[in-house]
Amino acid sequence: MTIQGGVPIQGEVSAQGAKNAALPMMAAALLIPDGTLRIDNVPDLQDTHTMAQLLQELGAKVHFQSNTVVIETPKTIGWTTPVRLVRRMRASSLVLGPLLARCGRAILPLPGGCSIGSRPLDLHLKSFSRMGADIELEHGSVHASLNELKGSRIYLDFPSVGATENLMMAAVLAKGDTVIENAAREPEIINLAETLRAIGALIKGEGTGTIHIKGVHEQDLGSATVTTIPDRIEAATFLLAGIITGGAVTVSKVIPEHMDHLLVKLEEAGGVCEIHENRVRAWASGRLGSISLKTMPFPGFPTDLQPQMMALLSLSEGTSVVLENVFRSRFLHVSELQRMGAEIEMQGNAAIIRGIRTFMGAEVYATDLRAGAALVLAGLSAPDETNVFGMAHVWRGYENFVRKLQLLGADVGIRRTGKG
Ligand code: UD1
Repeated sequence: MTIQGGVPIQGEVSAQGAKNAALPMMAAALLIPDGTLRIDNVPDLQDTHTMAQLLQELGAKVHFQSNTVVIETPKTIGWTTPVRLVRRMRASSLVLGPLLARCGRAILPLPGGCSIGSRPLDLHLKSFSRMGADIELEHGSVHASLNELKGSRIYLDFPSVGATENLMMAAVLAKGDTVIENAAREPEIINLAETLRAIGALIKGEGTGTIHIKGVHEQDLGSATVTTIPDRIEAATFLLAGIITGGAVTVSKVIPEHMDHLLVKLEEAGGVCEIHENRVRAWASGRLGSISLKTMPFPGFPTDLQPQMMALLSLSEGTSVVLENVFRSRFLHVSELQRMGAEIEMQGNAAIIRGIRTFMGAEVYATDLRAGAALVLAGLSAPDETNVFGMAHVWRGYENFVRKLQLLGADVGIRRTGKG
């Protein structure tokens, strides 16, 4: 992506549907034997298409058109997932819960996804064992099987989003009650719980640290229509794009409470946030000040915004500190921001950022989805040309990214160079 930066970006864009909500909701369709799940407001992205293909491989029929996905799941589904799809996206592991619930077995090659440090599946697998599954690792794949899926009391050592979602889906068809303690509380978890209830599951407590699920029978589940929540990370990226360029962006179709962590931090740094019912506008009247922030599970500051925030803080006055507590080695964007002039010193999982006046345009490489977004933000603010390579990572999470930036007045485009 080529960026001629230094242009304040202004105007209004609407948020896409949340990728991280849509993916587990799509996987949940596998739970309904002979039923249909219609999901509205699904972002049209590589990851949602990968999930659609995975569901098709397992026997579902998937129609994906104009941000609506309709998934028809037959009575009998497959339980082996192909390595070529699973390696593309870590969230492929979200089919494990539904497959164990429906088929009593599953084979899942160890998944891929963004290169943001070690991302094991141990919490998922340990919990499935507690529910009665026998788990083996063979030739780089997880082989899981069980005689009976038993409702259990499960304590997660860390409130993992994916493990909470996988367990919620498995527990829907388990025998008896399941309690997930130290569950993740992200808005995407609530969206999944609403979806599961819509198809007939008995679940409560989502959004708190303790989720209760009462197992039901397959025949109790049926077709439903659900909607994904707005993508709080995409929306935040556009707000930051406005501020970093000295402009002001309004993002509509958002749920502002889902973005509290960001809005509070922006105000702490001297920014201004105008919050309406379902839209947010943010700007700064001068140079922002320095702040400290720690990434934490929701309602803490999201790790998925840490790279973009680091781009912003690189231009703030004084010294900021960013502590990454969720993916401790999620700092691959740092060396690229440094190539653009950022002054960042790393100490373990802490980044110490000394504010500079301006970024310099450069050729930089996106190593993962949000790192790529951070480099685009830095490029938008630099007064000269920046080329960001590896944008394939970014397309995994941002729908119509170039078009939306252009609508806001950014001078950006795609140059086919063969470099990525
Ligand atoms: C989800 C999001 C991702 C976000 C992350 C944290 C989706 C599709 N992706 O990823 O964008 O960055 O939440 O908000 O929703 N962990 C283990 N063992 C496990 C599972 C996780 O050690 O079995 C660790 C991870 O390595 C990481 C931390 O727990 O350090 C958080 O991971 P988790 O919440 O599971 O993230 P994902 O569900 O993969």
